Amino acid sequence: MNLRKVLIFAIAALAAVLLAFALVKGVRLFTGTTSAPGGAVVATAGAAIGGPLTLTDSGGKRVTDADFRGRYVLIYFGYTFCPDVCPTELQAMGRALDLLGPAGEKIVPVFISVDPARDTPETLGKYVCAFHPRMIGLSGSDDDIARAAKAFRVYYRLGRPSAPGAKDYLVDHTSFIYLMGPDGKLAVLLRGGAGAEAIAQGIRSVLP
Ligand code: NI
Repeated sequence: MNLRKVLIFAIAALAAVLLAFALVKGVRLFTGTTSAPGGAVVATAGAAIGGPLTLTDSGGKRVTDADFRGRYVLIYFGYTFCPDVCPTELQAMGRALDLLGPAGEKIVPVFISVDPARDTPETLGKYVCAFHPRMIGLSGSDDDIARAAKAFRVYYRLGRPSAPGAKDYLVDHTSFIYLMGPDGKLAVLLRGGAGAEAIAQGIRSVLP
């Protein structure tokens, strides 16, 4: 009897470890769960992505995930010095909201910096309004950003500057677009590079 209990426990523990590994390893496992164009949707509701956030907006006000409850929030993690990927994605997000028309007005676009040393709240505020008039830029302390990135399974790593102390480093980071539902949970996860049309269609597929 005891041995059986040990066995059951061992199997349950192994399953838990495998599941955790699969979630951490990436959302690629969920590829192809829907028929959105170009495989833009990589995960749908139910994936363990998202969680508590405490960050700082461009006015210097502390913002938590609870402040967005009841709204759809479209989130992208990146940094304002990003030479190409981030601006392309943010532009696609802004355009997707425009394509959605009145439905797009229900969605709050948010850009979260993974480079808080350079992306001050003020810098972010100026940067995001170029992509959508309602876009919110969020930054915070290194710990705030690390916690947010962990909750959203975002990988980021600061590169080497050209000289010690120089501020010209690149930041390697994952590129996904997260639509969080009014309950604060993931509604749909879209692949970076999907383009505005595919983002709009992915969003449309989960709006009521
Ligand atoms: Ni980038």
